Amino acid sequence: MLLEKILQSQGFGSRKQCQSLIQRGLVKVNGEICDQLKTQFQPQDLEFQVGEHRCRYREHVYIALNKPQGYECSHQAQFHFSVFQLFPEYLRERGLQTVGRLDQDTTGLILLSDDGRFIQASTHPKKHVDKEYWLKTADPMTESQIQQLQQGVELRNEKGIFQASSIQQMNDYELRMTIHQGVYHQVKRMLAAVGNKVTELHRHRVGELELPTDLAQGEWIYLTAEQVQLAISRRES
Ligand code: URA
Repeated sequence: MLLEKILQSQGFGSRKQCQSLIQRGLVKVNGEICDQLKTQFQPQDLEFQVGEHRCRYREHVYIALNKPQGYECSHQAQFHFSVFQLFPEYLRERGLQTVGRLDQDTTGLILLSDDGRFIQASTHPKKHVDKEYWLKTADPMTESQIQQLQQGVELRNEKGIFQASSIQQMNDYELRMTIHQGVYHQVKRMLAAVGNKVTELHRHRVGELELPTDLAQGEWIYLTAEQVQLAISRRES
């Protein structure tokens, strides 16, 4: 495949812009400057560098971000930063999207990809992948509130009932709760429905993929094929 086409597919601009990067000597392949147009490479696993960006050719990207507070999962963030500001332009250019959304004040694991089929399949309402949240509440949790969350609550303007598939109470004000649906503000609305209020919300797990402990807030990693599989796996019950 022509080098300029490889660069274009990885988000480095139009064909013309990629040609210019090559001609200006800004592109290295396997450590060597390649300033000749018309050079062909086998794209699979190709290691290349554009300016200071070291990259590997990827047909699609699958990413885990530890989302900080104050970031919206939207390209046109209105009142806060956008999570997409945490990524280099070449990833934004190739059409990176979040898989579902977290509120601006929620922290933790969010997946991003440029693979539309993966995003659609992962966010399909019937997919029922677990999402585990760690949360703090304004008032002490009562036995009755925990029971109601386990049995399921109704949410205004939503069909069906919304249930915690597992709940672990850490102390009076702290819960670890797993849900498998994903409607707007679901956790906050479930806690409001039982008469309490979420004050802090953090997503720890999606499917069987846990937030890596060494991933600081604002940092992200490319997921391996195994990690992508974990993120769409359902726990055996
Ligand atoms: N539920 C919420 O209420 N907010 C989130 O960000 C995620 C789940």
